[in-house]
Amino acid sequence: METVVSGIRSTGNLHLGNYFGAIKNFLKMQHEHRCFFFIADYHSLTTHPTPKDLHNNVKQVLVEYLACGIDPEAVTMYIQSDIPETTELYLMLNMNAYVGELERCTSFKEKIRKHPENINAGLLTYPVLMAADVLLHKGTKVPVGKDQEQHLEMTRTFANRFNRMYKKEYFPEPYAFNFGEELIKIPGLDGSTKMSKSDNENSAIFLADEPEVIRKKVMRAVTDAGPTKPNQEKPQAVENLFNLMLALSSKETYEHFNELYNTCQVRYGDMKKQLAEDAIIFTNPLREKIKELLSNDEYLRKVLKTGTEKARESASKTIREVREIMGFKSF
Ligand code: TYM
Repeated sequence: METVVSGIRSTGNLHLGNYFGAIKNFLKMQHEHRCFFFIADYHSLTTHPTPKDLHNNVKQVLVEYLACGIDPEAVTMYIQSDIPETTELYLMLNMNAYVGELERCTSFKEKIRKHPENINAGLLTYPVLMAADVLLHKGTKVPVGKDQEQHLEMTRTFANRFNRMYKKEYFPEPYAFNFGEELIKIPGLDGSTKMSKSDNENSAIFLADEPEVIRKKVMRAVTDAGPTKPNQEKPQAVENLFNLMLALSSKETYEHFNELYNTCQVRYGDMKKQLAEDAIIFTNPLREKIKELLSNDEYLRKVLKTGTEKARESASKTIREVREIMGFKSF
């Protein structure tokens, strides 16, 4: 049995990228392994520090985890900021993370480029906090999308460095993981290679989107004038639509439109209509459950109470051991 740890930032509604990159794997692992799934609210502060949104964003992610079928009896589900041991381990790991390696991290460089007005130290040490999340439970498998691969590589670096520094094989090496073997990246509707909500809300299909909203977003998705030669290479935006279809539609549907593309007969309007309907079919059961759970605070409280207790038990054991290894002693 492996120890599985993963989290999702609380920046609002979850989208199909979060589902296929992370949650789908959580569902496959939850009854086989020792799983810790949490809501990364501290991480959300690096970009979303608005107090009036914080609580509802956390609640939304919690509800959407549950609506997708995460079983709170089988896994340990909690909010990152409810586990103070997280910040303690984060502080300790910061002492052996080098500024140079953090500055070279791709996600940090991207954030600097997109938001030069807010280059905070939390962004720089974002991978250290992530490492603390995983190492706190001595996680070995971390189901995430492709965009998180480098962060897991850094987690391994910090874990190994700790072990070397204190001459003890304490932390195991955690690996980014996907059941389909390759880590995946769900594209956006705006031609970008990654579905994401931070950059453009219209690029993402949210799990809670109403059918009309999904239809509108998909119909507006970027394409081109259509192929002019048989078997022509697909431009990025068109390739994105096909990749979305691969995730959401049946294999036959995908092959049908692919064949039409390859023979220059594709009509993007038809393809988008089909894609929108398949996205609606996929999200329908989730949408209803999300609504139901949002009004059930008592149940949510119960879920978190149990999860927090279990997470703290595991976390406090690690912190006790780490403090001892590092040489902390009580008088
Ligand atoms: P976040 O909140 O950006 O994304 C949550 C999960 O969704 C995946 N994801 C995608 N996968 C495929 N295609 C996409 N377009 C796409 N967009 C998002 C992400 O890869 C991720 O798995 N740093 C993490 C949260 C975190 C964490 C952790 C994860 C904090 N601590 C410890 C694992 C272990 C993040 O930003 O996720």
